[in-house]
Amino acid sequence: MMTQVELKFRKMFGDDVPVADEFTLLPRYYDELMQGVPYSTWVHYIVDLLNRIDDAFKFQRVLELACGTGTVALEFAQRGHQVVGVDISPGMIQIACKKARKLGLSSRAKFYIQDIAELDLPEEEPFDLAVCLFDSLNYITDPNRLVKVFARTYSHLRFGGYFVFDLNSEYALRENLFDQDNLDADESKTTLYYYWRSHYYENKRLCRVDMWFAVKDEKGNFLRFKEIHWQRAYSIDEVRRMAETAGWDWVKVLDAYTYRPPAATSERWYFVLRRPKVMASQISP
Ligand SMILES: C[S@@+](CC[C@H](N)C(=O)[O-])C[C@H]1O[C@@H](n2cnc3c(N)ncnc32)[C@H](O)[C@@H]1O
Repeated sequence: MMTQVELKFRKMFGDDVPVADEFTLLPRYYDELMQGVPYSTWVHYIVDLLNRIDDAFKFQRVLELACGTGTVALEFAQRGHQVVGVDISPGMIQIACKKARKLGLSSRAKFYIQDIAELDLPEEEPFDLAVCLFDSLNYITDPNRLVKVFARTYSHLRFGGYFVFDLNSEYALRENLFDQDNLDADESKTTLYYYWRSHYYENKRLCRVDMWFAVKDEKGNFLRFKEIHWQRAYSIDEVRRMAETAGWDWVKVLDAYTYRPPAATSERWYFVLRRPKVMASQISP
């Protein structure tokens, strides 16, 4: 028997919804969808984490990889940092630039459209800190390309600089923690409906998320579309091997937003890497 939500889903979406590529139609609605995400708490957590790890570490230039609409980058800019955000989605970057202009932060925040596995920024100075949040690295589903992300990020950071990123755990992908919808939302309060269902392919360690969206316009008509997203599960050991292959010092991995080590049921992990303070050739034998 169909549940109330499934019935509502059938009524709202039918069988024939146009499918768009990942992050092509979504950017326009991204910030509305992410309204409840505590981005500034995340920035506070990162700053506190770095301070606990290395209280002598001072940073000015911040690189945000897969920055989406730039909320985290702009939070750093508001705190006085010089920031650069990079994302593969032109729609995301367009919105990030618009937000920077609106906040009067364009002189402190620059955004580029690039694939982070091929990162090559026309920036003269290296960065002190790189961040990549909200499971963006799970979107790099080819492990060889993830190694490239580590290598390209490494070459954009100064010696002694840090790279902080998160990843969804395999537990989160296997337990279908992506399954969410708001079809029960109060119709007087929302014009944006979503219905997401995921499937984890254990043998490939890939999670497919079918994301349906329906946006109501002023006339009460709905724009309906669907995006199919893919995320890959990586183990902590794999990440460590990849990062060390690219030259990073392994500093820490934590259960996200805590200072505890990961547990079997951690949904998200936070990783901290450091670019060694000196070049290998400078270490005396
Ligand atoms: C879940 S969103 C997170 C966005 C942002 N970090 C945030 O916290 O809201 C994932 C982002 O990764 C970006 N992305 C995926 N693959 C990428 C790649 N190869 N290079 C750059 N950006 C990528 C997408 O365009 C999208 O903006």
